[in-house]
Amino acid sequence: MKIEFFSAKKYDKLFFDEANKLHSFDITYHETHLGPHIVDIIKDAEAVCVFVNDKLSRAVIEVLAKKGVKIIALRCAGFNNIDLDAAKEFNISVCRVPSYSPEAVAEHAAAMLMTINRKTHKAYNRVREQNFSLDGLLGYNLFEKTVGVIGTGKIGKAFINIMLGFGCKILAFDLYPDSTLKEKGVDYVSLEKLLQESNIISLHCPLTKENHYLINKETINLMQTGVTIINTSRGGLINTLDIIEALKTQKIAALCIDVYEQEETLFFKDLSLEIIDDDKIQRLLSFPNVLLTAHQAFFTKEALKEIAEVTLNSITRLDKNDMPNDANVRLV
Ligand code: NAI
Repeated sequence: MKIEFFSAKKYDKLFFDEANKLHSFDITYHETHLGPHIVDIIKDAEAVCVFVNDKLSRAVIEVLAKKGVKIIALRCAGFNNIDLDAAKEFNISVCRVPSYSPEAVAEHAAAMLMTINRKTHKAYNRVREQNFSLDGLLGYNLFEKTVGVIGTGKIGKAFINIMLGFGCKILAFDLYPDSTLKEKGVDYVSLEKLLQESNIISLHCPLTKENHYLINKETINLMQTGVTIINTSRGGLINTLDIIEALKTQKIAALCIDVYEQEETLFFKDLSLEIIDDDKIQRLLSFPNVLLTAHQAFFTKEALKEIAEVTLNSITRLDKNDMPNDANVRLV
């Protein structure tokens, strides 16, 4: 089977070529995103493999169907970039990778917290310039601090386990509390109590209509002055303008974000020679107490291996009509 692979990066090719040794698909890699501008190049392919910024609109799906494409394989968990109704209408199967190494994301959240707190990013640069002073590098012990975790699914749970190792007290909020975490001493409380009592707050819930801008002026007002906020989930959970205000007044002592509400136009690209027309991200980047990474929390060898293997296995199973409709990897 021929697969047209979009938004391909060097690392995708590395891991997919390795996983493909078990399948022998004919994969053509394209660096460009899939969208109306490029869909015509597809020839004789039965599957396309796409990522978070490829746009699978109705118009694109219609062309895919005309060209004989039977499978759209999303090599990510989210599926907000695809018109699933259109895929169903044109009889195209869609699969995704619902979970890949929750530990990768949890460990990145912990790494960001450790970095912003102990300022190792600043120390690294400083000593290379023979500046061995400690001024400005003061941090705090994580031991016995209260960490509020919003969303205690796979990633939240992995993050809690790391923080328990540091000797932190954990307050948690989730619509469905986890009994195994309660047994470990995790205290499920109301969102209000979590916001009021936590020294560090980490977001691990999905973005939904209900929790859009969960972190906003009102919820920030409930927090302690000097709180550290970590967001490795989705940018839309935080109202960026409100958080900028709270950084300016120093209500929030530090912010670690791996996601940003307008990241589609920025992340996964080298824009170092461009003028960026986004004043909110430029303001965020101007704060010394903001650590921003570009959606890299998932980016470990283990996660990329899992993504490649699960994606190619799903394509094989869909091709053999051997994947149940109700599996959350198969979307239509
Ligand atoms: P999961 O589905 O295992 O857990 C999500 C948890 O959030 C569930 O326990 C659910 O009950 C809870 N939840 C849902 N709505 C909530 C709300 N309004 N308030 C509190 N809790 C709520 O998902 P998983 O695998 O732990 O992933 C969490 C999120 O991490 C994903 O939705 C995604 O946005 C993000 N993610 C980020 C990555 C990155 O590279 N930065 C990579 C993968 C996922």
